[in-house]
Amino acid sequence: MKRIEDYVISIPDFPEPGVIFRDVTGILEDADGLQLAVDLMQERIKDVDFDIIVGPESRGFIFGVPLAYNLHKPFIPVRKAGKLPRETAAVEYALEYGTGTLEIHKESIKPGQRVVIIDDLIATGGTNKGIIKLVEELGGVVVKAVFLMELKGLKGREKLKGYDVESVIQYE
Ligand code: PRP
Ligand code: ADE
Repeated sequence: MKRIEDYVISIPDFPEPGVIFRDVTGILEDADGLQLAVDLMQERIKDVDFDIIVGPESRGFIFGVPLAYNLHKPFIPVRKAGKLPRETAAVEYALEYGTGTLEIHKESIKPGQRVVIIDDLIATGGTNKGIIKLVEELGGVVVKAVFLMELKGLKGREKLKGYDVESVIQYE
């Protein structure tokens, strides 16, 4: 039986020189890999008291939605700028290989709601620091963030200091 890390393909110098890209599609392309990834992430939140799952476009959707479905919770998408049709809150962010703007529908989180953040990967933590800012701006409480992969050398965990952060696979 394969371990979850066996499904990940590592590609040097993508999308730019110096980055080792940890490609999640190797997991998704295999039914056992996909099921294992969802199960392992679900294990990390099954006993957590929370109201909604928030996940970023696009890879956060891949795991956030099946977890929300399995645990019968709403899924709130965070999208890149200009995609959400209703009134949004926005935040500028930087990630391992770029910068941008993330948005969330203002009405999608009610004050006091307990939020679990789901994404495929934490590198510098810039994306998810931005997401936390959005959630808190709307009055949500981030109770946990779960990532399938963590690139420890980029110290994203330090950027999310004070929050409960878990990852399934770690790379040094
Ligand atoms: C990737 C990944 C995380 C983020 C992590 O998303 O899915 O959301 O980068 O990097 P960070 O910890 O340095 O912020 P990307 O912006 O490449 O978008 P995609 O999911 O649409 O590929
Ligand atoms: N997102 C940010 N850095 C990444 C990396 N090295 N591999 C895959 N996704 C990423």
